[in-house]
Amino acid sequence: MIRKGILLAGGSGTRLHPTTQATSKQLLPVYDKPMVYYPLSTLLLAGIREVLVISTPADLPQFQRLFHDGSHLGIRISYAEQAKPEGIAQAFLIGEAWIAGEACALALGDNLIHGDHLSTLLRAASARPEGATVFAYQVRDPERYGVVSFGADGKAIDIVEKPVKPESNWAVTGLYFYDKRITEIAKKITPSARGELEITDINHWYLNEGSLHVERLGRGTAWLDAGTPDSLLQAATFVQTIQLRQGNLVGSPEEIAFRMKYIDADALRSCAKLIGKTELGRILNDIADGTHL
Ligand code: TTP
Repeated sequence: MIRKGILLAGGSGTRLHPTTQATSKQLLPVYDKPMVYYPLSTLLLAGIREVLVISTPADLPQFQRLFHDGSHLGIRISYAEQAKPEGIAQAFLIGEAWIAGEACALALGDNLIHGDHLSTLLRAASARPEGATVFAYQVRDPERYGVVSFGADGKAIDIVEKPVKPESNWAVTGLYFYDKRITEIAKKITPSARGELEITDINHWYLNEGSLHVERLGRGTAWLDAGTPDSLLQAATFVQTIQLRQGNLVGSPEEIAFRMKYIDADALRSCAKLIGKTELGRILNDIADGTHL
C-alpha cells in the first residue's frame, strides 16, 4: 500500500483574482470547510497517513495553522515550499527527501472527488505495486485538461495536455498514484513550452512503458475543481446539496480519520470542540457519540 501522499496547494490562482491576490485559493471555503479539506479527505480514504503539504512561501504558514502536525487526525503532516509555480510535477523534486525513494500519491489542492465505491477504487490504486494509476472523468470542456484517448480494447493509448482538438472527453483528474520510481522519473522530464514541469509528461512516461492504469470514474461520481468563480460556486453548492439532503458530510478529514480508526471518539470530540458553534462540529460530535443519523 502507498503510505505517502503530497497535497499540492501552491500555484498562483490567477483565474480567481482578485480573491486570490492576498490569500491562497486552496484555503477559500467550499461551503463549510476550506477547499484543501476535500483532497486531504481523498488521500486519507486511500489509506495514506503521511502527507506533505506544498504551497507558496507566503501561504504555507496558513496551512500550518490549519493542520499543525496532523496528530489530531492520527496522521503526520509535513510542509514544504514551492518558491515559484513551475509545474505540478515539480512536487516530486521538492518532496524528494521526504519521499525517500518510496511510492507516492499526489492530490491537487483544488480538486474534489465524491462518489460511491471511491474508497475501493482508491485502495486498489494504492495497492498496485508497480506503475501508476490516474483517474479519468468525462467533461464537456476537455481542452482545459490532460486528455486520455482509449483504443478499441479500452486501454489508454495517448494522453495530451490541453489539446486544441481533444481526441476524447476523458480528462485526467488531479489525483495520481505512482510507484517508487517517481522521483527519478520526475528528474528526467524537462519544462514544457509554457515553462512548467508537466504531470502529463510523467503520465506519458508510464504510458510508454505500458504501466499506466487509467481508471475511468463513472457518471455516478462527481469530480469538481474549484479554480474559477463558477466552479468554486458549483463545488460549494454541490457540497451543500448533498450535506443538507443526506445529513452526511462530504470531505471531512476528521470523520474519515475516525472511520479509518486513525483516531478514537475522544479525539474526534476534541476536533469537534474546536469548531463547536458550527453544524459541522455538531455532526462530528454526533458521529463520535454514535448518535449520527
Ligand atoms: P492550476 O489550476 O493549473 O493553476 P493555478 O492554481 O496556479 O491557477 P490559475 O490557472 O488560475 O493561475 O493548478 C492546479 C493545482 O495545482 C492547484 O491546486 C494549484 C497547484 N499548483 C501548484 O501548487 N504549483 C504549480 O506549480 C502549479 C502549476 C499548480
